[in-house]
Amino acid sequence: MVQVSAGLEGVIAAATVLSDVDGQAGRLTLRGWAVEDLAGRARFEDAAHLLFDGFFDDLPTDLAPALGAARVRAFAEVVALDTALAARDPYDAMRALLARLPDGETLHDALVLAAAPAVFTAATLRCRDGQAPVAPDPALPHAADFLRMIRGAAPTEGEARALDAYLVTVCDHGLNASTFAARVAASTRAGLGSAVLAGLSTLKGPLHGGAPGPVIDMLDTIGTADNAVPWLEAALDAGERLMGFGHRIYRVRDPRADALKAALARLSRTAGALPGRLALAEAVERAALDILRRRKPDRPLETNVEFYTALLLEALGFPPQAFTCVFAAGRTVGWIAHAREQQAGGKLIRPQSVYVGPRPRAAA
Ligand code: COA
Repeated sequence: MVQVSAGLEGVIAAATVLSDVDGQAGRLTLRGWAVEDLAGRARFEDAAHLLFDGFFDDLPTDLAPALGAARVRAFAEVVALDTALAARDPYDAMRALLARLPDGETLHDALVLAAAPAVFTAATLRCRDGQAPVAPDPALPHAADFLRMIRGAAPTEGEARALDAYLVTVCDHGLNASTFAARVAASTRAGLGSAVLAGLSTLKGPLHGGAPGPVIDMLDTIGTADNAVPWLEAALDAGERLMGFGHRIYRVRDPRADALKAALARLSRTAGALPGRLALAEAVERAALDILRRRKPDRPLETNVEFYTALLLEALGFPPQAFTCVFAAGRTVGWIAHAREQQAGGKLIRPQSVYVGPRPRAAA
């Protein structure tokens, strides 16, 4: 009997120099950097440079000006954003606009794709609220400009650094589902736009990048720390999964959760608005971990990146419906680097299936 590896669990399908997810030790290494050292220190541009290094011949030392110019280029597509498109889910609107970009292979193509989720998310959110989109300022750092394009006003330095910490934390993560999808598309020699769209479509679901919005719904419904245990127990009794917990690879706490919790603590020191929300979240987290340990003693289920993503992005003023768009704004550089690495290897990804349907009928 042929064994099928459900969900390709345990299958090694690529060798990569980009990132290493050590699920037993709870470590994420991005090209030789521990994620917690990179987040809070590097800007998004630096993370993009780190991932692109060696995959584009003409990579400049400082990517910020080229990424600024790429935001301006992406903004040209915002003309296609009408009120009907903006009324749709922000992620769907962003994907539709992204599909308009060239399917090329150059560094410029890559940077326009990398810049586009921020530009399109900001424009969609403003259009949804009946406001005119704000054009990019190519002279600003990417994270600061992302927030400025949404608000129409400059963010504080602390807010821009917090968004940088988020984008850097999620920029790459081994062969996760969306990165695998991007590599499959790239392995057919489709262009970078196609690889990014494959990644983008795969990131959307709640088992991958779509979890942080529901984390906010969960916190809002729970409301107070006293209500955490009964609500969580009832959700699990109803067969639901607790969003922001569990991971395919990590058997201990997701290191990205701590990187984001640290970014949130830095932000709350400057913004001062979060203590109540953070206290509720910590109470819910403690209760959820206790309950999951008791109910699933054989399956370590720990806090994953999405739990503190939700809190950080909420504190930065992103609406929950846009959380996955912001995830994509960070992860796109990872998809592009993996696509280039896959293409350099040159081998088509084409696994097999085992046929379990009916045998051919005998001809009459
Ligand atoms: N809440 C409750 N139970 C969970 C759980 C969660 N968040 N995550 C996993 N489990 C349980 C499953 O129900 C299953 O139990 P069973 O064996 O009794 O049926 C067991 O743990 C294994 O789950 P499985 O789906 O096989 O593990 P996976 O490796 O495929 O799942 C995730 C990984 C991320 C999809 C899963 O943990 C999940 O759905 N988490 C919630 C969504 C989320 O936070 N996504 C963001 C990921 S970064």
